[in-house]
Amino acid sequence: MSIFRADALQGLVALVTGGGSGIGAAIAATLAEHGARVAVCGRTQAKLDATAEAIAATGGEALAVAADVRKPEQVEAAMQAIEARWGRLDVLVNSAAGNFLCPAASLSPNGFGTVVDIDLKGTFNACKAALPLLSRAGGSILNISATLHYGGTPLQVHAASAKAGIDALTRTLAVEWGPAGIRVNAIAPGPIDNTEGITRLLPPELRTRAERAIPLRRFGQPREIAEAAVFLASSASAYTTGATLVIDGGHWLTGMGL
Ligand code: HXC
Repeated sequence: MSIFRADALQGLVALVTGGGSGIGAAIAATLAEHGARVAVCGRTQAKLDATAEAIAATGGEALAVAADVRKPEQVEAAMQAIEARWGRLDVLVNSAAGNFLCPAASLSPNGFGTVVDIDLKGTFNACKAALPLLSRAGGSILNISATLHYGGTPLQVHAASAKAGIDALTRTLAVEWGPAGIRVNAIAPGPIDNTEGITRLLPPELRTRAERAIPLRRFGQPREIAEAAVFLASSASAYTTGATLVIDGGHWLTGMGL
């Protein structure tokens, strides 16, 4: 049950990259629940189909398009599929990301580059490809950032660097594309349950310690990111651009140690 009106996003079309799982899938479902027609893209068709089927099962309209955000031509093709299906795009959510734990000293150049390619360059690729459609609609972009780079997070030099770049990209595009009527914002999630981030980055035996380090004493839920996405996609945030909304239970304020 949402606090927002069920028609808050009626008439809008959204694309969620990385929409096959985790935060991206939750955002896709929640945007649809509020009236948006939603396309999801990612590398694995089966995961995208599952998101689309879940949306369809609740009466929503969804489109699953396989595309790797590292491949500009695949992202372009996804935009064409959306235009062919719905003739517009109002909201782009850049949620595709890659990550693993690795000390900088043993991280290969390709390991560093792969995460930058997915997170930062992938976000740029999708923004660039969406620009013509977003300009026509006066749409908005929502980038999924992180809090890793607010301090120094060990074993995360690749992801922290990429997410810092996403914050820069968010602010720069907000300034460059604001005159075209396009808003560009970001959400920086902290530890969110049922996501690849938790599975890949937090050994289960550290969970209790991790929870104790969070002022609100719990991990977040994907839904708590998705509800904020509804706000940032909707006209309720019509004067908000270049902003990053931190949703982490206060974790980064503590220095994020365990
Ligand atoms: C060291 C690693 C590694 C690891 C991969 N590499 N995993 N290095 N430790 N655990 C290196 C490889 O050796 C290779 O370098 C390079 O990275 C590319 O690896 P590939 O497996 O070929 O890449 P690919 O198949 O494209 O997979 C990309 C991936 C993978 C990022 C490595 O983990 C992935 O697909 N992830 C997608 C989902 C995901 O990670 N989601 C989590 C997002 S969490 P060499 O030199 O050997 O060629 C998130 C949260 C942030 O973003 C905030 C948290 C609070």
